[in-house]
Amino acid sequence: MNELMKRTPLAFDYQSSTPCDNRVIEAMAPYLYEVWGNPSSMQNSLGIHASAATSFARENLASILKIDPQRVIFTSGATEANNLALLGHARSKAFEKGTPGHLITLSTEHNSVIEPLLQLRKEGFRISELRPNSDGLLILEDLVNAFQEDTFLVSIMAANNEIGVLQPIKKIGLLCKERGISFHCDTAQAFGNLVFDIDQIGIDLLTISGHKIYGPKGIGALIISDKIKIQPLQFGGNQENGIRPGTLPVPLVVGFSKAAEIAQDMLLENMKRHAILRDKLWIKMQNKVPDIILNGSLEKRLPNNLNFTIKGVRGTQLHKQLRPFIACSSGSACSNGKPSHVLLSLGRTKQEAEASLRLSIGRSTTLNEIDAAIEIISREVDQLRS
Ligand SMILES: Cc1ncc(COP(=O)(O)O)c(C=O)c1O
Repeated sequence: MNELMKRTPLAFDYQSSTPCDNRVIEAMAPYLYEVWGNPSSMQNSLGIHASAATSFARENLASILKIDPQRVIFTSGATEANNLALLGHARSKAFEKGTPGHLITLSTEHNSVIEPLLQLRKEGFRISELRPNSDGLLILEDLVNAFQEDTFLVSIMAANNEIGVLQPIKKIGLLCKERGISFHCDTAQAFGNLVFDIDQIGIDLLTISGHKIYGPKGIGALIISDKIKIQPLQFGGNQENGIRPGTLPVPLVVGFSKAAEIAQDMLLENMKRHAILRDKLWIKMQNKVPDIILNGSLEKRLPNNLNFTIKGVRGTQLHKQLRPFIACSSGSACSNGKPSHVLLSLGRTKQEAEASLRLSIGRSTTLNEIDAAIEIISREVDQLRS
C-alpha cells in the first residue's frame, strides 16, 4: 500500500460539499467577533458597519452574476431557495389568478425541488414530471408537448448533482420566454463550475448555494427577476424586501460573496483541470473494470463529476468496503440511503442504482489520488466478484 492509501479516505465527494477556502474564513472572521452588529439595526455604528458589509457582499455577488443587487435574496442555502422559488411563486400566481395552475419539471431534479412540487400538488396545482432520455438529458420535444394553457413555471436544473449532466438551459429559457412562462433553474452544482449568463438564458428564478463553492454552509441565495412575484414562506421582518425575513447572517453572507469571487477567478482554470482529471479517471477505470456502465452523458457533463454502475456486486457491500478508503457517494446527500431516483429515471434497476458510485473532483484532487482511487475500487470490486 502506498502512502496515499494509508492517508485515506480519499476525498471524492466535492459535490456534496466543499471545505471552506482559507481566504473565505479570513474574510468572515472579523464579522464573527469585531463587526458583530445586527445589519438591520441602523441606529448605531455597529449595525451600520454590519449593514455595509452585507451591501458590499450583495453587490459583489451581483456583479459576478451580472445582475442588479436588488435581485439577490439571501437564504439558508439552495434547499430554501428552491422552496421559496417554487412555493412562493406558485402561491403568488394562484392568488393573482384565483386558481392554481400547471408546472413542469424533470424527474431527475434534486429532492429540494421535487418535494415542494409534491406539496404544491396537494394544494391543487398540476405538475408534469418529465422523464429524461437514457443519458439523463431533457427531451426538448417532451417539454414543448407538456406546455398547457395555464403553465406558468418550468423548473429544471442546470447541472445534475448525481450524474453531472448539463440540461439545455438556453433552449429551455427560450421556449419559456416565447410563451411568457417563468423559468426556475437550480444551479447549486453549476454555479462556480460552469460559465453561464442568467439574463442571456432568460432565467427568472435562480438558486445558488455557498458550501458547494468552498464557502460556508448555511447560506445561499435566490436570484429573482424584476417581473417575478413571490409570496414569502415566513413572516416577521422586512429583511430581503420582506421576501425572506430574518436577521442576515453577516459572516456567512460575506463568506459566500468571497467564495463566489474566488470561484469566478479560478473558473476556467478549474474547469480545464477537473475535466482532465475526470477523463483520466474514466478511461483508467474502464481499463480496470471493463464492464462498468457510465451514468449520464459524457459530453454534456460537469467537468468534476463521474458516476458509474458496477455490475455483479451488491451496492451495500461495495460502499461498506470502500468506506475506509474513499469518501464518495451513491447519489444525493439528501436521499436518506434510498436507491437514487435519478438513476432509476435513467432506466437502471434498483440493484444497479445501489451498485453505483458518484466520484466528484475538487480543487485539491491530484493525479495520484485518481490513480489510488482506481486501484482501491478495482481491488474491492475484484474481491466482491471473486
Ligand atoms: C442541485 C442541488 N440542489 C439543491 C441542493 C441543496 O443545497 P443546500 O445544501 O445548500 O441546501 C443541493 C445539494 O446537494 C444540490 O446539489
